[in-house]
Amino acid sequence: MKLGHLNHIGVATPSIEASIALYRDVLGATSIGEPFDLPAQGVRVCFVDTPNTQIELIEPLGETSPLHGFLAKNPAGGQHHLCYEVPDIHEAKAWFESKGARLLGEPRVGAHGTPIFFLHPKDMGGVLTEIMESPRGEH
Ligand code: CO
Repeated sequence: MKLGHLNHIGVATPSIEASIALYRDVLGATSIGEPFDLPAQGVRVCFVDTPNTQIELIEPLGETSPLHGFLAKNPAGGQHHLCYEVPDIHEAKAWFESKGARLLGEPRVGAHGTPIFFLHPKDMGGVLTEIMESPRGEH
């Protein structure tokens, strides 16, 4: 398998609205999407465009959100995961499993509407890693 584009950097935040203000007013982001809920993953999401990738702002959604634990350790929020594109999610799953990397759950539909899965940070050099099927079918 060949690693594809860095699609986005996930940044956890206790308040998407506060983070939007930061990215817009301080960092100078000029293209910020509308926040939306992703109940299947227990997160509220907002994408901030940069010229070469995106920042995915994620806020906990619901009591069982996986972000509650992260924000308990990092109350101000912080860098949460990196997301790489692959051409085929099932091929990628088989590849990573053959390398002994543990998936966190089965492939499911992610914030961009294409299948994704997460890899255990302990198998990824300490980085929570999201693998996403490319929305453009690119390699
Ligand atoms: Co993500």
